[in-house]
Amino acid sequence: MDLTVNIGHLKLKNPVMTASGTFGYGEEYSEFVDLNRLGAVIVKGISLKPMEGNPPPRICETPCGMLNAIGLQNVGLKRFLKEKLPYLKKYNTGIIVNILGNSIQEYIKLSKALDDAGVDGIELNVSCPNVKKGGIIFGTDKKTLARLVSKVRNSVKSAILITKLPPNVSSIQEFSKIAEESGSNAISLINTIPAIAIDIETGRPRLANVIGGLSGPAIKPIAIRIVWESYNAVKIPIIGIGGIMNAADAIEFMFAGASAVAIGTANFVNPMSTIEVIEGIEEYLKRKKIEDIKEIIGGLDATKSNNYSHNRLWL
Ligand SMILES: Cc1cc2nc3c(=O)[nH]c(=O)nc-3n(C[C@H](O)[C@H](O)[C@H](O)COP(=O)(O)O)c2cc1C
Repeated sequence: MDLTVNIGHLKLKNPVMTASGTFGYGEEYSEFVDLNRLGAVIVKGISLKPMEGNPPPRICETPCGMLNAIGLQNVGLKRFLKEKLPYLKKYNTGIIVNILGNSIQEYIKLSKALDDAGVDGIELNVSCPNVKKGGIIFGTDKKTLARLVSKVRNSVKSAILITKLPPNVSSIQEFSKIAEESGSNAISLINTIPAIAIDIETGRPRLANVIGGLSGPAIKPIAIRIVWESYNAVKIPIIGIGGIMNAADAIEFMFAGASAVAIGTANFVNPMSTIEVIEGIEEYLKRKKIEDIKEIIGGLDATKSNNYSHNRLWL
């Protein structure tokens, strides 16, 4: 059975990756997960200088999901290259680094340094809802996005370039096309959706930052819709993210057009989720007698609707 998928010129042994910010720098999960089995590790967003993040509380549970406003706490580029990257390089797995800058120049510096250090992929975070400067500012303005992606493109030689777009833009198709035309090898969808939770006993927000990013199963159907819309607009591969808890969820994303998936919040619930998703995909392919996983990418038959009796997901 062929589980390999291609993201630009990067070939992954299987389509299952870790979503940025939910798997540390890989090492934190190595007690539970053999990193060699993953398609790739996408590490926590890295900035030029270390960042402390937002004041606590920074996470809270919500129905079928969670809110976070971590605010890009990270060790910074220098320590990442010195301490974190050498550890990941010991494994035979793709290394993709999520980056966040306050200016185009910062994104260029980060990309160049990481490309020179031999990472397999760079994921441009232009969709972080939890920082005051940078992030989403670059992903919600068409001209700025085009300028950023094309400038970074020119400074990256070997790594693949992935753009992680915000889900809450006027037209995901237009923004996807801009990412493609400006030189991205792939698009990641989706990042968290800005949301608020309030404690009615105190009248206070549950997060110190008031607004956080909603993730987990609550956002999955939205993410599937966005992936499908983007898939219909571009030719470059899409990495599907949002509420994947098991293999069925991952396969649903692939039917909608994702060439690969990344698993986020599920890592907090079950640190072995990624491996269980890989094994579940294998079982599905075996049961359906599908020899190559690539056959299911974009396999959604939108010309027919489901038989009603198949539409019950719970009970
Ligand atoms: C605690 C936490 C931290 C995150 N940090 C980042 C980050 O640094 N960069 C980024 O692009 N996305 C970050 N994300 C977003 C995830 O990578 C992912 O896009 C989102 O959570 C949706 O997937 P999920 O529902 O499987 O968690 C973070 C999400 C969570 C929950």
